[in-house]
Amino acid sequence: MKRLAKLTGCVAAMAMFAALVLPTLAQADDQDVIDYRQHIMNTMDAQTAALGQILSTVIPDDNVVAHLEVIAIASQQSLSSFEKKVLGGESLPEVWENWEDFSAKMNDFSEKITTAAQVAKEKGKDAAMGTILNALTCKQCHDVYRKK
Ligand code: HEC
Repeated sequence: MKRLAKLTGCVAAMAMFAALVLPTLAQADDQDVIDYRQHIMNTMDAQTAALGQILSTVIPDDNVVAHLEVIAIASQQSLSSFEKKVLGGESLPEVWENWEDFSAKMNDFSEKITTAAQVAKEKGKDAAMGTILNALTCKQCHDVYRKK
């Protein structure tokens, strides 16, 4: 009986070990990190596309400031989503090899888009147009840090 109890205890311990440890051994965690940073990028993408519709005058301009502010907030979320070094997705290894430059690019983008939102708020969409286009430095970063 004593032996059986020992064995049962052992099996229980193994089951617990499996439940606690195995999910972290699987790729799920890394995939979560990649999914998360892509979700934030896709937020910026959708908001930029909506803004583009407004700037090309297809859609009324009521939401210009709000779109810019959402992009600004997403850009602030974005940097920390890359902090954990998880290779994969469309990220090139250079993101982490040149972290100082990558984060400087992200912060610069963030500052510019925040300023564009302020200018649009204070002076209107037309006055902010140049600032907005100048702020959308998506491609400058993608050219260096995103797989083609
Ligand atoms: C400082 C660098 C940087 C800036 C600025 C930046 N991106 Fe990205 N973006 C990346 C990297 C790196 C990836 C690859 C992420 C991954 O898949 O691991 C990416 C991926 C994407 C993706 C693909 C997401 C997916 O589901 O695969 C989209 C869409 C995107 N970015 C849109 C934008 C838009 C729109 C802007 C500007 C408003 C922007 N990005 C600004 C670095 C940047």
